[in-house]
Amino acid sequence: MQNFVFHLPTKIIFGAGTLDQCGIEAAKLGKRALIVTGKRSASAHGFINKVTDYFEREGVEVVIFDKIEPNPRTTTVDEAGELARTNKCDFIVGLGGGSPMDAAKAIAVAALEEAPIWDFISHGSDSPVKPVTQALPIMAIPTLAATGSEADAGGVFTNWETHEKAVLFHPLLYPKVSIIDPALTTTVPADYTADGGVDIICHVIEGLFTGVENTPLQDRFAMSVIKTVMDNLSLAIANPNNIEARGNLSWASAIALSGMISSGRGGAYPIHALEHSLSGHYDISHGRGLAMLLPAVMEYSYKSRPSKYAMLAEELFDIHRDGQTDEQLAVKGITAMKDYLKSVNRLLTMADIGIEDDSKFDLMADDALKIYGVDGKQLANAKPLYKEDITAIFRSLLV
Ligand code: NZQ
Ligand code: ZN
Repeated sequence: MQNFVFHLPTKIIFGAGTLDQCGIEAAKLGKRALIVTGKRSASAHGFINKVTDYFEREGVEVVIFDKIEPNPRTTTVDEAGELARTNKCDFIVGLGGGSPMDAAKAIAVAALEEAPIWDFISHGSDSPVKPVTQALPIMAIPTLAATGSEADAGGVFTNWETHEKAVLFHPLLYPKVSIIDPALTTTVPADYTADGGVDIICHVIEGLFTGVENTPLQDRFAMSVIKTVMDNLSLAIANPNNIEARGNLSWASAIALSGMISSGRGGAYPIHALEHSLSGHYDISHGRGLAMLLPAVMEYSYKSRPSKYAMLAEELFDIHRDGQTDEQLAVKGITAMKDYLKSVNRLLTMADIGIEDDSKFDLMADDALKIYGVDGKQLANAKPLYKEDITAIFRSLLV
């Protein structure tokens, strides 16, 4: 195991009905909130009205910005930053899925700066980046179990002119408080519920395959998260109002990227790097892109680290060793993962996510390598991914 510092400064208030505490918490952060949300769901399901009401009861004024698109764009963040500045908002609330929660973090920076937010986002070694030195306090209220933005210090943003999708990360961007009320997720339709579940799985499975050796606690913790998601995702899809299942998914979402699992184990996120190129160019759902890529990257990688894949097969899918080698178990584990993805309608091809040809694959591979690569040439992975490997994986999914 590696040495580490684990410091999660976010206060988490969890449970069905806990939204009613958001006003009390808001009053501790400031006097005038910018509530940042998506274009439809938070208004359609009455969340904006409820939060506004709770805030105003505690004497907190509210300004609404409800223009965040899925895969938030830097220009939208800049627009909201300007709104926060002109209205003298003193804290930012992200209400929604990962997109509004991420956006709230960047807006917390943009509100205090004149420069465009893209100037602060690292997108390759040749891009000078302004340091984040200040941010308004942030509150997160997730309405979708997926990204873990409610318990991490990062956000992902797309420059729609260049189609680069890159990460803004800084300890100042941890939410001061996250109100995780799983009741808010009962309105999420089956497709985004499934996408979110696969996203959570990928947040822990990527490190399992790429982190250092001898991390039994982290590995079993990762497997526990994956198993919990698998069991509860099917339940939530079958019955969207199953609050126990929704709660288990919401907690898994928050835990997955909180640092609790990656501490001491490290690891890389090659599937995420590839997906960010996909959604940067094609604006697809993050979890859907991951679902398509996951089996392909597993197949590409398992021979370079068969022990981890064998562990997954044995402990997650109850496949008995019966004298089989790690590689043989790994192959069965990958098949079991594909079967699971199929059972939640997430065994996908490029056509399923609306991509019909390979015209952008070269560019997407270049972007993934430039933004997330080691020396711009390879993505860290059990078996490193070079440009030709990346384009081959993309092409294999065109069928
Ligand atoms: O856009 P609105 O109207 O809000 O509707 C959304 C959107 O259509 C809808 N939705 C959200 N909550 C709902 C709901 N519909 C009904 N009922 C509810 N309660 O769901 C759709 C997807 O929302 P979005 O926020 O885009 O999804 P998600 O949570 O998957 O976030 C994706 C973004 O997060 C980034 C992704 O790259 C992507 O940009 N990520 C952020 C991470 C982080 N901060 O650590 C890590 C992740 O790996 C990821 O990269
Ligand atoms: Zn993700």
